[in-house]
Amino acid sequence: MINKEAIGIFDSGVGGTSIWKEIIRMLPNEDTIYLADIANAPYGEKSPEQIIDLSIKNTQKLISLNCKMIVVACNTATTNAIDLLRENYSIPFIGIEPAIKPAALSSKSKSIGILATKGTLSSSLFHRTSELYASELNVIEVIGKGLVELIEADKIESLEMYTLLKGYLEPMISQNIDYLVLGCSHYPYLIPVLRKILPQDVTIIDSGQAVALQTKNILIKNNFLNTREVLGNHTLYSNADTKVLRKLTVTEKGITKEVAYLNF
Ligand code: DGL
Repeated sequence: MINKEAIGIFDSGVGGTSIWKEIIRMLPNEDTIYLADIANAPYGEKSPEQIIDLSIKNTQKLISLNCKMIVVACNTATTNAIDLLRENYSIPFIGIEPAIKPAALSSKSKSIGILATKGTLSSSLFHRTSELYASELNVIEVIGKGLVELIEADKIESLEMYTLLKGYLEPMISQNIDYLVLGCSHYPYLIPVLRKILPQDVTIIDSGQAVALQTKNILIKNNFLNTREVLGNHTLYSNADTKVLRKLTVTEKGITKEVAYLNF
């Protein structure tokens, strides 16, 4: 029965676990399989062709593990590869994109900041969305160069991270943003540090909950929802070190979870 199969999720590394957490909260009875492609992280500095190849590799692995749908928990992979994935595979895909629309609609200062990878900010999907919803606003786009590497190296609380972020937020703060859009699934883990730097009245938004809701809607629409009453099982695979993956998912209490190495 396909509805008993797991939801597949992938990212370049540990960042997509911020999305995974929202999914298992909203869909507690579903099984999940998460692929952290840490051996190839970061994706953000790679060419569109490389990002597409890696997205295909991850998709094929999740399909071989019998996943019923795939959540691309990576803005960089979504904005560069999701159209192609949808054209080539019949299984449903959910993607994640920077939440420009809600920020643009709610902004009072008419100035918003977007922190994302180079791969996301240079994609045509991102340009189209930005043009559609934020063409009347002052949009300050900043590439979060080096942030993913520090998160993957377990250095969220480091002085190096604080200094990098301070530099990235400086032009946004001086141009009076009232919304900061986190356009990379790794960045929700930076919220405690971002809060130390940003003025209090700046709202931080990410796309985690919207992705989880969309996942639920697509499962219902396809009749793929797992209707059992017991809690799901979760397997998180890394093709490199598992330490940070283990650490970032440790707070999810009461769930059955396995973190393991897998060659993919
Ligand atoms: N977490 C990913 C994203 O949402 C990828 C970051 C990276 O590997 O550069 O864009």
